[in-house]
Formats: sequence, C-alpha cells, structure tokens
Amino acid sequence: MKIPYHRPYMSDNEINAATECIRNGWLTMGKKSIEFEKKFNEYLAVNESIAVNSCTAALHLALCCIDLKPNEEVLIPTTTFVSTAEVVRYFDAIPVMIDVERETHLIDVAKIEEKITKKTRAIIPVHFAGQPADMDEIMGIANKYNLAVIEDAAHALPSKYKNKLIGSIGDITCFSFYATKTLATGEGGMICTSNSDWAEKMRILRLHGISKDAWKRYSEEGSWKYDVIYTGYKYNPMDICSSIGLEQLKKIDVMNDQRKKIAQKYNDSFQNEEGLILYKIKTDRESSWHLFPLKLNIEILKITRDEFIEEMGKRGIFTSVHFIPLYKFNYYKSLGYNESYYPESEWIFDRTVSLPIYPGLSDDEIKYIIENVLDIIKSNTK
Ligand SMILES: Cc1ncc(COP(=O)(O)O)c(C=O)c1O
Repeated sequence: MKIPYHRPYMSDNEINAATECIRNGWLTMGKKSIEFEKKFNEYLAVNESIAVNSCTAALHLALCCIDLKPNEEVLIPTTTFVSTAEVVRYFDAIPVMIDVERETHLIDVAKIEEKITKKTRAIIPVHFAGQPADMDEIMGIANKYNLAVIEDAAHALPSKYKNKLIGSIGDITCFSFYATKTLATGEGGMICTSNSDWAEKMRILRLHGISKDAWKRYSEEGSWKYDVIYTGYKYNPMDICSSIGLEQLKKIDVMNDQRKKIAQKYNDSFQNEEGLILYKIKTDRESSWHLFPLKLNIEILKITRDEFIEEMGKRGIFTSVHFIPLYKFNYYKSLGYNESYYPESEWIFDRTVSLPIYPGLSDDEIKYIIENVLDIIKSNTK
C-alpha cells in the first residue's frame, strides 16, 4: 500500500465550479471572490473578510496595517512555518522567537513578557496544527503593553477557543488555503478583522495600492480610470480559486468531522504505547486537526525520529515534520538566534512526526498506518 502525506479532497462540485469560471471567461478576482468573502463572514460570524492569494500575503498586509517600522520587534513562536517570521523581515523588523510548550507546541505564554521591550509592537500566535493558542492570556498581555495581536490561523479553520470559532479574537486573523490545508484552493488566504479602516486599506494594498474597487474596471460596472494611493502588492485572489473555496466552505464541517474521527482512532490506538507520546489538546478548545503530530519516546527506543520516518517510507507511508524550528535555518542563525535558548523546541523537534490525516483517508489506510506505527515502535523498543 502507498499512502501519500496528503491528498486533496475535491469532488465534481469543485471541478465544475472552476470549469465554470474558465467557461465564463472571468479568471481573476471578480464576483466569486467577493461572494467567497461574504460566505466566510457568515461562516465565522465576522464583519470583514478580505480574500488574498496566500496566508503569507495576509500576514504581510496585517503588519502593514500596524505600520511596522525597521528594528521594531514582533513576538512569534519558534515552531512555525517560515512565513510567520519572513513577513516581519519584509519591514527590516525583528522576529523575536519564543519557546513553545512541550505538550501542545503552542507559544509559551509564560515566556512572553520577559521578551517585551520598548520596541515590541505585536504578537503573532500560531494556532499549531489547528489547536488555538492561549488567546485570553495573549490578549491580556497585548492590552497591558499596547501590542497588536495578529493570529496566524493557517491551520485553524475551523478551530474553537472556548466555544468560539477562531477568526475574531485578535486584531487580525490570517487563514491559508494552500493545497494541503483544511480548506484548499491550491494557493489562497483570507484576512478577518473587525477594523473596517484596516479592511479597506488591505483591500487596496492587495491590488497594487489602486483605489477602491479598481478590479471593477474590467467589468461592465467599471471604468478604465483609477488612482494609486499606496505602494501596493499583487496579492489578489483569482475567481478560479475562490469558486473552489466556495465549494470547500460548504463542506468544511463534514471534512472537519472526518479529521476528528481519524485523530480519535489514532489517539485510541496509540494511548497505551509507551514508545509514543500523544499530542495534547487543552480542554477548553477544539482543533481543526490540520495536522496529527505524534512524538516518539526516544529514551526507550532504539531508533531516532529520522529513522522512524525512513522506515514508515519503506512501508509506503509518507509522513512529515512540523516544524523545523526557525532558529535552525542558516538565515535566522545569521541574525543571531541560537538553539540553546529554546530547550522545549529542541526536545519536540527530536521527537515529532506528523502522520497523514485528511478526509478521504480510507479505513483500510488508517488501519495500515496504525499497525505499522505500532509494529515499528514495538520492534524497536529497548
Ligand atoms: C503556520 C503557517 N503560517 C503561514 C503559512 C503560510 O501559508 P501560505 O502558504 O498560504 O502562504 C503556513 C503554510 O504552510 C503555515 O503552516
């Protein structure tokens, strides 16, 4: 059996929706993108959703709203995708990395305040694997020091913090619709905020800084005239992607149920295995289960995490690692980051592996994954 790390969950509905855009000739941002924003508002019960072409673009535009300046500082967790840090560097500002919690891989809120200086402007919590970060504590610290909170919610659709869907807690929330995400359009992202001035600014920035509704100039309602009022970016979504997104949004809860069921099966099967350490979800929140992180109890095993991944690959099961902590990359090392500052991230990185988890993973495949994980662990216990 061969089981890929990810398979998109697309039906004829997505195919027909994309085909319809190609047939009607409206390929780039247009009515479908605006409709996608409206449906997103409804689903998350938020006021403003702004569709863009990636979550990286979303995070960048969010930092434009707070007018981040060179050498100012933004607090981020170590264990995230590089986008979270690179957008800070776009401004020649400093991503200040904070260690994560051993059990949840979430930014350790107890370590945030010691990193705050006069130059700190914002916190970007990452809802790792779909589990919301400690938002009450983070909002409390942000209020105390007058910092913006920009949520990296690339993994968090749909995730709940204290019964509330992620999307409206921080000042700005950024989602990803990258090919492997819980709602996938190939590439894509969405920004949610309740600040309508910022929303307006981000709508302009996503399309070259051209004044309001410039995209309409290609339609019957529009005209060829436009003004440019900021240095903008080419971050607009395409209607082809937005129409796929509309179809995916209709089934987001169904897809989430399937992910939850797979996570439950994995957890039930692995909970009594001493060689494995389960990923913990805090009691007051619900994960989207974008990822299924599993840790190896390497102290009692004869193999390393890398050897485990290799053995899984030999048996046709493809896994991944989320994430290589950012301070390990040469670029961030050159900025002075050092692994000795981050003991928990190091501990996690040596042990963690992400198993396949996606709607459409069959019962036979889930069974095959579970049997092989247990077989590798049992036959390699000291
Ligand atoms: C935590 C996190 N933030 C941001 C991103 C960037 O998303 P995108 O690929 O849509 O730019 C990703 C993508 O993998 C991610 O995992």
